[in-house]
Amino acid sequence: MKRIFFLFITSFLTFQIFAQHKVDINLKTVNNITPPSYGLFFEDINFSADGGLYAELVKNRSFEFDKPLMGWKELNRNSQNQVLIINRSLEKANNNRYAHIIFSDEGKTFQLINEGFRGMGFHKNETYTFYITAKTNTPEISLRVDLLSTNDQSLGFATLNSIEKDWKEYKITIKANETADKGKLSISFNGQGSLDADMISLFPQNTWKNREKGLRNDLVEVLSQIKPGFLRFPGGCIVEGRDLLNRYQWKNTIGDINNRKVEINRWNTEFSYRSAPDYFQSFGLGFYEYFLLSEDIGATPLPILNCGMACQFNTGEVVAMDELDPYIQDALDLIEFANGDINTNWGKLRATMGHPAPFNLTLLGVGNEQWDAQYIERYAAFEKVLKSKHPEIKLIAASGPSPDGERFEYAWQQLKNTKVDLLDEHYYQNPEWFLKNANRYDNYDRKGPKVFAGEYASHVKDVKAAEGKNSWLSALSEAAFITGLERNGDIVTMASYAPLMAHVNAWQWRPDLIWFDNLKAVKTANYFVQQMYSLNRGNQVVDILTNQKPLIGQDSLYASSTINQTTKKLFVKIVNTKSTAQEVSFKINGAKKLNLLSEQILTSDNLDDFNGIDDPEKIKPLNKLVNKTVKSEFKKTLKPYSFTIYTLDF
Ligand code: AHR
Repeated sequence: MKRIFFLFITSFLTFQIFAQHKVDINLKTVNNITPPSYGLFFEDINFSADGGLYAELVKNRSFEFDKPLMGWKELNRNSQNQVLIINRSLEKANNNRYAHIIFSDEGKTFQLINEGFRGMGFHKNETYTFYITAKTNTPEISLRVDLLSTNDQSLGFATLNSIEKDWKEYKITIKANETADKGKLSISFNGQGSLDADMISLFPQNTWKNREKGLRNDLVEVLSQIKPGFLRFPGGCIVEGRDLLNRYQWKNTIGDINNRKVEINRWNTEFSYRSAPDYFQSFGLGFYEYFLLSEDIGATPLPILNCGMACQFNTGEVVAMDELDPYIQDALDLIEFANGDINTNWGKLRATMGHPAPFNLTLLGVGNEQWDAQYIERYAAFEKVLKSKHPEIKLIAASGPSPDGERFEYAWQQLKNTKVDLLDEHYYQNPEWFLKNANRYDNYDRKGPKVFAGEYASHVKDVKAAEGKNSWLSALSEAAFITGLERNGDIVTMASYAPLMAHVNAWQWRPDLIWFDNLKAVKTANYFVQQMYSLNRGNQVVDILTNQKPLIGQDSLYASSTINQTTKKLFVKIVNTKSTAQEVSFKINGAKKLNLLSEQILTSDNLDDFNGIDDPEKIKPLNKLVNKTVKSEFKKTLKPYSFTIYTLDF
């Protein structure tokens, strides 16, 4: 009986495994289709900038949050030990507050503690630089600066004395003797007197490219490993602001960081269930740094500018049409800042900041996720000026917040006959939608603007763990969908997952491509999908057909195929969304000889699996180096729930 049961099971499995699919790949496809550029969508949401990419560890370093001492704690405060916040807006309009600290040498030492962004991450044996801009009339005082562990133990300290009577920046370095993920900074005030203090900072020395006061090395590393085609910044809804006053204004984010005006982050209050009253923008990561980052990681910079409209999900405030000029001027000035000669006003500022060479701006977004007539009207005004003065810049316009419906149709209908180069489409949808839409672009009108799939992510049902929404199901459905983007690379020329990053203890929106805490980063399964497509992009799409039709879900298979004409490599990308293995017989037409170089497989048995901060490598690509000659027809067995890329030399 046991044996009969066993035979039944094995014959069932055999049947499942050997249901065979014939797939034809034609290397001689004539279509001139380039696969889309896979880029990054960066927005300061989920503490991605302050508390994330920007390596500053002190929260509210210049006391400019709405509550001036938010993030700071006064220890042993009394009438002789305390902080007074002074406002000098006439002298320093953009960073007007500073702390006047009085302290006495009687009783317990007065201390200021900064809690960081949900704590501070310190790595054992790494050195941190403490900065303070200060002045005093009591030069005999001194400061002791400690890095504190999660349990308030000192991990290292340094002393600062000889502070002078005029404002000056001081810095001292401290080495951490242990690792802490939720550390703090403590400043103890010794002696009797007072100190004026501003811009109190703490940065790791180990930053991206070792730039002083720079970006978190590990996080930029993770971004660069995707080899992104472009970097979109600074968002997202943050571009729009809750109201126009709160909109992102790039000119406030450049120049000396001491003078960059702190602004509330629009995600501070957006979701009551994830409220973040301590979410502000210091703009230490501003437009200059975004351009530099793009250059560092080889990505084309893609700034998105406010078009005179605040978020239509919030106030929906719009600027009067006859007051739109300053917004358009901002766009013209940005082009000069990025590309202008060093003798131009804005080009000169770029050079002063350290980059005399242009940043080669070629793409510009006008508005983020706007819709309706008020947008079309404002976009048209931008287009008129920008296309006449800067025909070399490609313009990107919005198509609203969803992939279909009235707003979407209206935007396309209105914009398709303008000079816009790309329309930005957004889709946050469920996995079924992504599978069903693998053919979304097959019949798109080829005569209009191109498509920028500017924000997308597959959203599964709510789960408890923050990172849990980045499930294997979501990533697999995106992998299947992207085969459709590749096949239609002539219309969809750019694509980016959104949002990019999230702090595990401070997120507002999920899923996200990369999770991080104060010490480390987690690459999600969705990240690996993006990375696999980007690193195996090729430069021409070739046909991959079954029964002369593209694979868009027949028997749960999705596929695309590209070649690199220079290196003579073929990339076969195939997704099996079935719970069982499937055998596929590939026939490659048009090659004299074929060498199978490698197989990269991303898979997991359980569609709910995800990479979490405590289990970061549950799903990761398995790279099998093969390097073996194959015939023009060969068979492969695809794993259940898998995304595979075969790389061949031809
Ligand atoms: O990516 C998160 C948000 O989604 C973006 O800010 C916005 O453009 C979209 O609604």
